[in-house]
Amino acid sequence: MSESTSVNTHAAKNGSKREMWSSRFTFILAATGSAVGLGNIWKFPYITGENGGGAFVLIYLMCIAVIGIPIMMAEVMLGRRGRQDPITTMKHLARESGHSRSWGLLGWMGVIAGFLILSYYSVIAGWALAYVPIMGLGTFNGMDAEGVNAVFAELVASPESLMIWHSLFIVMTMYVVARGVRGGLEKAVTYLMPLLFVLLIILIFYAMDTGYFQQGLAYLFNPDFSKITTEGILSAMGHAFFTLSLGMGAIMVYGSYLPKDTSIAQASIAVAFMDTLVALMAGMVIFPIVFANGLEPGAGPGLIFKTLPLAFGNMNYGTVFGTLFFVLLVFAAWTSSISLIEPAVTWCMKTFQLSRVKTAVLLGVFVWLMGLLTIFSFNIASDFTISSTISTQYGEFVILKDATIFDFLDYLTSNIMLPLGGLMIAIFAGWLMKKEFSREELKINSFWYSTWFFLIRFVAPVMVIIVFLNAMGVIAFMRHIFNA
Ligand code: PHE
Repeated sequence: MSESTSVNTHAAKNGSKREMWSSRFTFILAATGSAVGLGNIWKFPYITGENGGGAFVLIYLMCIAVIGIPIMMAEVMLGRRGRQDPITTMKHLARESGHSRSWGLLGWMGVIAGFLILSYYSVIAGWALAYVPIMGLGTFNGMDAEGVNAVFAELVASPESLMIWHSLFIVMTMYVVARGVRGGLEKAVTYLMPLLFVLLIILIFYAMDTGYFQQGLAYLFNPDFSKITTEGILSAMGHAFFTLSLGMGAIMVYGSYLPKDTSIAQASIAVAFMDTLVALMAGMVIFPIVFANGLEPGAGPGLIFKTLPLAFGNMNYGTVFGTLFFVLLVFAAWTSSISLIEPAVTWCMKTFQLSRVKTAVLLGVFVWLMGLLTIFSFNIASDFTISSTISTQYGEFVILKDATIFDFLDYLTSNIMLPLGGLMIAIFAGWLMKKEFSREELKINSFWYSTWFFLIRFVAPVMVIIVFLNAMGVIAFMRHIFNA
């Protein structure tokens, strides 16, 4: 198709404005549904707290801008060009540009990463589910920090309760996957997401009222680089991938449904913007509550379950808002969880020639079983921890410190597998795919194309590699050699 015909087609489609808008909107909705989830509201605040605040947030924001957005554009682009499941897409695109089919392995890693993430994601989403009735019964009314902590501790101490909620969440996820009724869920989310947003704003007003809002903001936005460690840098980068759902094929699958004439750049920026906004808003709610109640920012994975109930328990209509909040959090997690398992579903259906329903049941059982490991990490197996440090004469490099199985799974997936997947995507899009193909897909002016190309070819891969090497102590070693 010549340049002018493609421009004409574009112009003609632009004429029917409604259709264009609706298709781009659908993609943005689905991708935002995948991106915005527990990562923003549960994980971002707690890992920020564990890594000392501002400096971590700054590195995370930088990673979103210079690694996340360009890689998201690349992943959507590969998906749209391949129009298949991630494994087949990668094989096909590699061949198209004259490279080996073993690029399909990238799709494989994504399938495994998504499966592993869902196994613990579902347990945490189960906590949010459990909080719906706990909140709804007014349990937290007028309660102090100690009481709220006790409620959380009691929940996670019971493998049976966790199993019930985890099972419920797996059934919810697999129901949508089996029926392929994603459309319905996404329509519901059109109303629920804005509502979640409004609730966060209400909570921000509550946070302002605590008298510790300034302190909370300072904690989030005043970088103190003495607090950041090499592991902190790695988790900031890993979280950028996790929160944008990058590096495992979820966004690639969504990209494969994207109409040809939709701007990938605008859509990716919109998704990344909304995702980041939700995370920062969650941070602005949580930290003032933490400081106002003398809590520990580094309290770990229970952070939002120990802070938000305090807010709801002490505000007007707190029971209503609180219940609604956890319902909305479950919905946000739900739209993310179906995208986590989608690459595995498409792969299983194709490889074993199974129906959607059978695939959903089968995968559901496996994810459920795998989830038990996370459940036990919080109770009967909480003492079973792994530590791994590389100590050299150039310093100690902590890979894992007293990590439970849950910590290990989270580390393996967000800090290693997703960035590795992202790195491969960047290398593929920046170095191996023919430039004419990426230019044809992205259709942005040459200034923006060059900017993207520079970021995807050099900046993103180099940064990911540097962060990996840094975490492994290689950089310290080199510095030592060159100083000597
Ligand atoms: N982005 C989701 C969240 O922040 C999690 C996710 C990761 C979803 C990877 C899909 C793929 O909650």
